Amino acid sequence: MSLTLELPDAAATERLAARIAACLEPGFVLHLSGDLGAGKTTFTRALLRALGYAGRVKSPTFTLLESYELSRFQLYHFDFYRLSSDRGWLDAGFDDYLDGRSVAVIEWPERAGATLPAPDLHLRLAFDPGRGEQARVVELRAPTPRGRACLTTLGVAGGGC
Ligand SMILES: Nc1ncnc2c1ncn2[C@@H]1O[C@H](COP(=O)(O)OP(=O)(O)OP(=O)(O)O)[C@@H](O)[C@H]1O
Ligand SMILES: [Mg+2]
Repeated sequence: MSLTLELPDAAATERLAARIAACLEPGFVLHLSGDLGAGKTTFTRALLRALGYAGRVKSPTFTLLESYELSRFQLYHFDFYRLSSDRGWLDAGFDDYLDGRSVAVIEWPERAGATLPAPDLHLRLAFDPGRGEQARVVELRAPTPRGRACLTTLGVAGGGC
């Protein structure tokens, strides 16, 4: 199951993040793909805001992981861009964080190759140069039942971000 939405500006990406935040529950895994600057961290920042986190949200570009204690669950925000190999995330012990009780948001999941389990929801953000500097297109794919349930709520609402 998949859905494609146009995001004319960063505010639209932030509204989408707020709607997806409502789908999250312990164990939910979200993958965020897209070129440098496509908006993955912007999306995650808005997701955290919608979940009630008021503090600073730093990009995990160098640390690879930032951790947030939220009221309903722990959220781990990964950025695998700088992983040195497919197995690097396993060598770092990050598989311990995919514990079924926490939410994981993973930027650059492709850097972990096939060793990374399938997510519930996979967003692929792309620039849309024909529509201006701020425009993005996002393709959402849902490999699991709870991911599909989330996409259904987004689709039913007409994708109006
Ligand atoms: N439609 C849009 N959606 C998201 N971000 C947008 C949009 N239009 C403009 N922007 C801007 O683009 C930038 C996206 O940067 P961001 O750090 O979120 O990208 P990223 O995908 O996480 O990159 P990286 O791969 O380097 O981690 C931000 O400055 C944001 O304000
Ligand atoms: Mg980022």
